[in-house]
Amino acid sequence: MTGHSRQRPLRFVHQGRVVEIDDLPPMTTLLDWLRLDRRLTGTKEGCGEGDCGACTVALGRVKGGRLVYEPANACILLLGQIDGAELVTVEDLAAGGHLHPVQQAMVDHHGSQCGFCTPGFVMSLFTLYQDGCVAADGREAVLTRIAGNLCRCTGYRPIVDAALDACSQPANDRFVTAAAATTAMLADLADETDLFVGDDNSFFAAPASLDALCALTMRHPDATLVGGATDVGLWITKQLRTLPKIIHTGRVSELRRLDQGTDGLAIGAAVTYAEARGALAAVDPDIGVWADRLGSAQVRAAGTIGGNIANGSPIGDSPPLLIALGATLHLRHGGKARSLPLERFFLAYGNQDRAAGEVVTHVTVPRPEAGEHIRAFKIAKRNDQDISSVMGALKIGLDGCRIASARIAFGGLAGIPRRSETVEAALIGMSIDDEAAVAAAVSRIAGDFTPMDDHRASARYRLTVAGNLIRKALMEIATGSRGETRIAHLREAHHAA
Ligand SMILES: Cc1cc2nc3c(=O)[nH]c(=O)nc-3n(C[C@H](O)[C@H](O)[C@H](O)COP(=O)(O)OP(=O)(O)OC[C@H]3O[C@@H](n4cnc5c(N)ncnc54)[C@H](O)[C@@H]3O)c2cc1C
Ligand code: FES
Ligand code: FES
Repeated sequence: MTGHSRQRPLRFVHQGRVVEIDDLPPMTTLLDWLRLDRRLTGTKEGCGEGDCGACTVALGRVKGGRLVYEPANACILLLGQIDGAELVTVEDLAAGGHLHPVQQAMVDHHGSQCGFCTPGFVMSLFTLYQDGCVAADGREAVLTRIAGNLCRCTGYRPIVDAALDACSQPANDRFVTAAAATTAMLADLADETDLFVGDDNSFFAAPASLDALCALTMRHPDATLVGGATDVGLWITKQLRTLPKIIHTGRVSELRRLDQGTDGLAIGAAVTYAEARGALAAVDPDIGVWADRLGSAQVRAAGTIGGNIANGSPIGDSPPLLIALGATLHLRHGGKARSLPLERFFLAYGNQDRAAGEVVTHVTVPRPEAGEHIRAFKIAKRNDQDISSVMGALKIGLDGCRIASARIAFGGLAGIPRRSETVEAALIGMSIDDEAAVAAAVSRIAGDFTPMDDHRASARYRLTVAGNLIRKALMEIATGSRGETRIAHLREAHHAA
């Protein structure tokens, strides 16, 4: 941030000490720093794209007044993103000749497998252990936490047993003992100074305010904005792109806000999925189920809704949901703010209504009105950690039995997430109980979308599923029910809470 008076290097806590880095190639991943620079090779590289969890580390941050440890995929996380956090790797768990309780449980239950997957599993279990008590029947909570850790050859049952054993009591380890001291160290690091490492041609920056962020993006409209890097990280590790200028949004306090007002919800662009989950689930339980199926615990702890919108993917999960909910997108370009209905942001495949240097600041979601019903469906080949073949969401307003309003949006059916306007128009005015009329309206979906065939699904499958999802949603709304699978999931999640 040349010309800016208050700027500082990268700082984080590791092994009880503050690490300060003022010389950093901007694209350095946390995994490369650990393995190549620090020679801490316990953290493994498997896929290098956020899928397998072999590289899982834990990041401690103070959230809601409490020190919280979240799992992170070090392979796609940029080192600069851990500014202000405590970094814990698998090397840090055993101490004084004693294994950490989760490591001991892995030994006791024969959960220790090969040297690639085991460190990642251990670190995911470490974060679960720190969360507090998993109920003795909290198998679902364990599965949710380790969904982003893959073993290609052995099995998961002993690992789940180890987790249920170690994590069913309150955490009591040296990290708990050190929590007050760690919290104080992290508080010392939390300042309002802009982070900038590098020079005008190549830098990693993490401004602390929206004004500083917008000034920087105007000065460097060619810079790459990074929220959680769960997309951008792969541009580096898989597409081998060179990104000389990186601006991280994660320290901008205005983009970190999550406000629940009387007229709705405002979600800052840098709020992670994990942070937004509770507020989204409060809008409708289907959205809670949906939120638990996005990526993995590692991806949800880093990925942001702002990044999911800004990347403009036709198969991103949040745009169809937010479009159906009637969300408004807010952006800022230098000092100029503007807002638009979210669906208007997506112009064509790979083309969004965003100028170079313009920043997505937040998205606002109106509170559903009385008589409005929401349903959300993610169709993918696996329950966890899978990209959608079809993502559909509906907001249906009823006046008695009459469909008074309809917002129906899909991802995976076109080059952009889009509303099914022909079907919406056909449904309005008809009785939700009139199955034949509903079926006729839904059959018009082919007029709204021309999906493509690819390895995830055929065009025919996508259209058929989308139509069936609308019918299913309307049937559920008419009868006041929810799908059985989702009910089971909700029940499990309730027990785990
Ligand atoms: C293993 C794995 C599983 C995944 N599973 C899913 C899934 O189930 N569903 C799904 O939808 N996605 C999934 N993704 C994709 C990804 O996690 C999401 O798209 C995520 O929301 C991206 O957010 P991010 O903050 O990490 O974005 P980043 O990677 O940081 O950025 C993505 C894009 O947005 C831009 N950007 C970020 N913030 C801003 C801003 N404030 N203003 C303007 N531009 C900005 C960046 O420049 C970039 O173009 C998965 C990814 C991985 C690696
Ligand atoms: S190496 Fe596979 S998730 Fe990082
Ligand atoms: S990948 Fe490690 S045992 Fe299967």
